[in-house]
Amino acid sequence: MTKSAKQSIRVITIDGPSGSGKSTAARKLAQRLGFAHLDTGAMYRAVTFQALRQGLNLRDSAELINLTKQIDLDLVPTAHGTEVTICGQDVTELIRTVEVTENAHFIASRRGVRDEMVKRQRKLARKLAPLVAEGRDQGTVVFPHAQLKFFLDADPATRARRRYQQLQSSGENVTYEQILSGIQTRDARDSTRSTAPLEVPPGAIIVDTTNMSVEKMVDELARHVQRILSTLEQRQSKQ
Ligand code: C5P
Repeated sequence: MTKSAKQSIRVITIDGPSGSGKSTAARKLAQRLGFAHLDTGAMYRAVTFQALRQGLNLRDSAELINLTKQIDLDLVPTAHGTEVTICGQDVTELIRTVEVTENAHFIASRRGVRDEMVKRQRKLARKLAPLVAEGRDQGTVVFPHAQLKFFLDADPATRARRRYQQLQSSGENVTYEQILSGIQTRDARDSTRSTAPLEVPPGAIIVDTTNMSVEKMVDELARHVQRILSTLEQRQSKQ
């Protein structure tokens, strides 16, 4: 399947809310197919982290757009996943804090910032393809012509539990209730913002991961990849 997937598919998108399993699914599906993995949430997080570090005014659009244009941000594939660097400094862990998570909406809601991000993401895709791109707007805005689009979801309690476990293991001091309420606030913000709101992309396959193990989730996505490949092959053989 891998060779044929690499030849026939350029971009697979995975969108969904936080804790839906999309990062794990994107990383593992990419590994299985031999595709690159583009974590666009990490890009929004990196800009947020840098804006906080420079003490920028998070309500000043011009400052944030300027930062997004200038930032020397790189996503480096490694054996353990994607390493995120700013000016060569590894910030992979630093961008996962609660502080960055809670302030990312200042960055993600600015049209000018998003326009710049879309440019960067398409440029990265030209370099990295074939790839699995994950985020909130990958199938709707960034890659509307992707051959395969997924939208992952899970009930809020499950998503909060997953985030809680992640943050516990990285030593963050937060309660489950705080996480659940943060998830509800971010869901509302992500889906009601005027620029590129989180929504199911046209033609996307919706996968409810609430009761799925990681393995089952990745198997399910891979099954759809296989199905699309068979359809593409049938079409080609008729031509
Ligand atoms: O997915 P993750 O939690 O890492 O995303 C970090 C932040 O970036 C979230 O606030 C999310 O709304 C935003 N984001 C976005 N568009 C994307 C990816 C992430 O607005 N394509």
